[in-house]
Amino acid sequence: MIFKPAALLVTGGAGFIGSNFIHSFMANNHRCTVTNLDCLTYAGNLKNLTALEGNPNYRFVKGDIGDASLVARLLAEQKIDAVVHFAAESHVDRSITGPEIFVRTNVLGSQVLLEESRKHWQSGSVADFRFLQISTDEVYGSLGTTGYFTEGTPLAPNSPYSASKAGADLLVRAYHETFGMPTLNTRCSNNYGPYHFPEKLIPLLIHNIINKKPLPVYGDGLNIRDWLHVRDHAVAIETVLKKAAPGSVYNIGGNNEWKNIDIVNLVCDLLDERLGRACGENRTLISFVKDRPGHDRRYAIDASRLKDDLGWGPAYTFEQGIAETVDWYLANQEWVAEVTSGAYREYVATQYGGGVS
Ligand code: NAD
Ligand code: DAU
Repeated sequence: MIFKPAALLVTGGAGFIGSNFIHSFMANNHRCTVTNLDCLTYAGNLKNLTALEGNPNYRFVKGDIGDASLVARLLAEQKIDAVVHFAAESHVDRSITGPEIFVRTNVLGSQVLLEESRKHWQSGSVADFRFLQISTDEVYGSLGTTGYFTEGTPLAPNSPYSASKAGADLLVRAYHETFGMPTLNTRCSNNYGPYHFPEKLIPLLIHNIINKKPLPVYGDGLNIRDWLHVRDHAVAIETVLKKAAPGSVYNIGGNNEWKNIDIVNLVCDLLDERLGRACGENRTLISFVKDRPGHDRRYAIDASRLKDDLGWGPAYTFEQGIAETVDWYLANQEWVAEVTSGAYREYVATQYGGGVS
């Protein structure tokens, strides 16, 4: 049976994947209201959502997922029947230099959200309910040269980021097992696409190439990531929310493994052509740097359960998606300039009275 939510609470909807999800979901579900709860860390940017300003079905609330009374009020007032939980600290490098906020947001914040959701669901004020935890393939740890992560692969996180995400996944599992709460859990591979914060590999490369800055490649550049367009991820999440059985876990991925150095070369070459530079010119910017500590060697997702059970598959080819992404960044240099200068924080302050953390 298809679950048709009437009122969604999206957490972290001002970030990269959350904002893409809101655009995609609202375009497909005109009658569902969306409340976006985001505390606007450095990664949250309301400019990602300006197209929705004035939409009566969309509401932004600046607040923390760890604020139990705020979460309880929103769940009750908005008669929320589905929580889609993106809010997190998401950057592995930052988790190495400062793990505390990762535990606070990703573990403790998720627990508050789960607990308030449990009370709301058990109050019986909505006919049906789902809590969808947006997780990552990084909870499975690292692969050797062969094999894939399945939903049965034991959790073996290696970074403070992935450990904090695994902690939240285990709490989600516990809320289903202990209380029977209708939870769902998705674990996706690396996303790319519009509104990606330029601390992450692909947007960082594009930004640095345009500005003729060095392209830092960690270690030997032979680590492998499995890339999926963010809009394919958004559709997969909607599919799981509507069709998956409560308690289930689904991997999301598009069978698209790349060595980091090959991605770097590809983006260099796409931009040689678009920026009118000589063939091979951008590759001279590549700079091999010290490796990330605990750097996972290879991720590769087996998403066959999602395809077999729910019929999802990616719509983008990587060739199309990466070319469109490079073009999006070239066409949205103002967005990139605001993010890199921090000017987007001023926009947030004008909208929300300067209470920006
Ligand atoms: P992001 O860093 O771009 O966005 C995170 C958002 O969460 C920001 O808008 C931020 O302001 C908000 N946030 C952070 N702490 C909060 C708090 N305490 N309360 C309310 N809001 C808070 O992250 P992203 O790349 O869009 O990732 C979104 C989710 O998807 C994360 O849970 C991440 O673990 C998961 N994920 C990401 C990828 C990827 O490739 N980026 C892949 C798989 C899974
Ligand atoms: O796999 C899903 C995960 O993908 C998500 O859970 C994370 O939130 C998301 O940030 C991403 O994590 P990664 O660590 O894989 O992404 P990142 O873009 O930071 O790095 C991708 C690869 O590129 C990784 O092997 C490290 C390498 N890298 C990264 C940066 C920023 C470099 O070589 N140089 C760089 O400057």
